[in-house]
Amino acid sequence: MQDRTITLTEVRDRVAGLRYMTLAQAEKLEGFFAEQDIADCLELGFYHGVSSAYMAAILEARGRGHLTTIDLVSGAARAPNIDALLGDLGLSHRVTVHYEPRCFTWRLMRMIEADPGPRFDFAYIDGAHTWLVTGYAFLLVERLLRPGGWVLFDDLDFTYATLVKPGRPMPDFLRRMTAEERATPQVRKVWDLLVGPHPAFHNHREDGRWAFAQKR
Ligand SMILES: C[S@@+](CC[C@H](N)C(=O)[O-])C[C@H]1O[C@@H](n2cnc3c(N)ncnc32)[C@H](O)[C@@H]1O
Repeated sequence: MQDRTITLTEVRDRVAGLRYMTLAQAEKLEGFFAEQDIADCLELGFYHGVSSAYMAAILEARGRGHLTTIDLVSGAARAPNIDALLGDLGLSHRVTVHYEPRCFTWRLMRMIEADPGPRFDFAYIDGAHTWLVTGYAFLLVERLLRPGGWVLFDDLDFTYATLVKPGRPMPDFLRRMTAEERATPQVRKVWDLLVGPHPAFHNHREDGRWAFAQKR
């Protein structure tokens, strides 16, 4: 572990060339965490762990807080994987990583089973991007958010149709969707139909591809 907190720019330099979260997004979160006094965080979907590293660096600089993050077991084989990335940055102590065989909703079930009480100030939902998984994940996350806690959705208008490449065979997971499912921004359906009218949420705000809502 280094003897001083790591800056977001230093994280950016370490994750150069890796997808997904950008430095500009991380800086927005830094301001948001300070403004809302965010400490305990949940993340659904970490890929290489870029967003996890940024959030962990923000918490480290704030001197408190923890991130619990969940993805699929396939994430362990990524180079680098989240464990290597966080280890290199000296941030492993700020993050609990869960690798799930099928879906982060299973881990959320286990968490609710272990303790049904709310425990997070912030939940970043950045995985799956389907009505089925994101919609259900949101309903589970609502149970785990403290009053006043925030949910943040990424990729509000993502469609699976953008992954269809002309002249190339369609991967099985895309073929299994109807053309309507592929063409529908499914996170936005969750936002419009579940988050917007949900009686437990207010202060809805869109910011580019991000959408924030606060639990009352
Ligand atoms: C866009 S990437 C996450 C990027 C990351 N938040 C960042 O900004 O660095 C989406 C991730 O969600 C994960 N994912 C998709 N569906 C999932 C599911 N049902 N359960 C767990 N993880 C899932 C994928 O494996 C992928 O790593």
